[in-house]
Amino acid sequence: MKKIIVAIDGPSGSGKSTVAKLLAKKLGYTYIDTGAMYRAIALQAKRENININSGAALSNLCDRVQIGFVPDNDGLRTILNGVDVSEEIRTPDMSMAASDISSKKEVRQSLLSLQRRMGETGGVVLEGRDVGTVIFPNAEAKFFLDASLEERGKRRYKELAAKGLDVTLEQTIEDVKKRDINDSSRDIAPLKMAADSILIDSTNVGIKEVVEKMIRVVNEKVDR
Ligand code: DC
Repeated sequence: MKKIIVAIDGPSGSGKSTVAKLLAKKLGYTYIDTGAMYRAIALQAKRENININSGAALSNLCDRVQIGFVPDNDGLRTILNGVDVSEEIRTPDMSMAASDISSKKEVRQSLLSLQRRMGETGGVVLEGRDVGTVIFPNAEAKFFLDASLEERGKRRYKELAAKGLDVTLEQTIEDVKKRDINDSSRDIAPLKMAADSILIDSTNVGIKEVVEKMIRVVNEKVDR
């Protein structure tokens, strides 16, 4: 059967990861979390105390880091230079640091070629901000997942609180808002909906329903 590229973009907390993981599992496709790659770079930059305003330092960093994924029951583990950093990259600090570093052209160029290599054979579900606009503008199925700011903030807060992190709902909503502005106002590959993307507002829609809708679209594309 034909194996296509599925692109899922959208702002933080819109449910992309949950939906992309489930969709990939149901289709028997590989799940690729492009945001985790920005998070991994941001983590290494922090560890090495790199000045993210220095293009040369960022290029050098990108040339040295190895980022990979290993599938597990829960979706994916993110491996940075051979070490599992899946938990470490999910703190509020790292979310903001990833958003900041993702505006830098050296980082975007380096990750773009890696993301394209990972997805080019098809049979993949990629989630991020620029999958349908920049990474794979010819992806056969493109979705833009959204939800209200309050709902996205609540989801993020629940996730962080469940991990035992010391966060408040108000601060989490503020962080999500700040990241929305950061990610959609940068010069290179900003968060925006591709013209041929299907918009799904998940504010009042359950995960199961969203995934079912996506599967119907994917099946149509595969049958064509
Ligand atoms: O999806 P996420 O929250 O894990 O992504 C973290 C940050 O990485 C996000 O705030 C912006 C950046 N990002 C990006 O610029 N392009 C992508 N395709 C994915 C993420």
